[in-house]
Amino acid sequence: MKGIILAGGLGTRLYPLTHATNKHLLPVFDKPMIYYPIRTLVRAGIRDIMVVVSGPHSGDFIRVLKNGKEFGIKHLEYAYQDAPDGGIADALVKAESFADNQPVTVILGDNCTDANIGKEVRSFKGGALVFLKKVDDPNRFGIAEFDKKDSSKVIGIVEKPKKPKSNFAQTGVYIYDNKVFNYIKKIKPSARGQLEITDLNNIYINAKKFNWAELKGFWSDAGTFESLYKTSVYWARKILGKRNERNLTRFD
Ligand code: G1P
Repeated sequence: MKGIILAGGLGTRLYPLTHATNKHLLPVFDKPMIYYPIRTLVRAGIRDIMVVVSGPHSGDFIRVLKNGKEFGIKHLEYAYQDAPDGGIADALVKAESFADNQPVTVILGDNCTDANIGKEVRSFKGGALVFLKKVDDPNRFGIAEFDKKDSSKVIGIVEKPKKPKSNFAQTGVYIYDNKVFNYIKKIKPSARGQLEITDLNNIYINAKKFNWAELKGFWSDAGTFESLYKTSVYWARKILGKRNERNLTRFD
């Protein structure tokens, strides 16, 4: 299993902060945001990782992550997405040769969670496995619609719906088989001109190759001022609380 972190985009929702650097390098309490998705992958046993970058601050990633050894990564590669506003699926397709026909665990660079996804990574059998999480603000996310007869079956995902059919958001954590890149090539740009991860997941749903699991624990995407603040407060409490108990290294 290989790991892919999507860390492109212009981060316009966080202007003026993102004039100075990429969103995924902004601080979440005491660490750059991208440390958290790296931690999620490394804890799940994934040590072969690609970071897809884009935009004017792409070079900043190397200064921060270097070759990844410090985080327990064995092999760290970077890819460059030409169009920073091309969408999440467009960023993912840049990792096709890196994936080398293996399944991939994909995580958005602004998704900060303390969930351990190791069990799902180890038992992955094919298709897509998307991590969902109950949220209070469903208009902000891709939202799952469930079958009326079988309430555990997802029949579609709608991106930022005005009238959400549930409170279950697709988080930015996905596991895909090696068909993912061919499926992305079938997607057409959405109304906002992007290749949407939601359209990719709907292809898996229609092919009846879609599974989901609830992401346990804390999860937040830190892409708005409010969520960036909330995410920082969560990790500050967790890290400071533990530091008082014993002396911890960075990834404890
Ligand atoms: C993206 C996806 C959305 C998903 C979210 C999770 O939204 O488009 O479906 O729920 O990530 O973080 P964005 O944050 O790019 O608006």
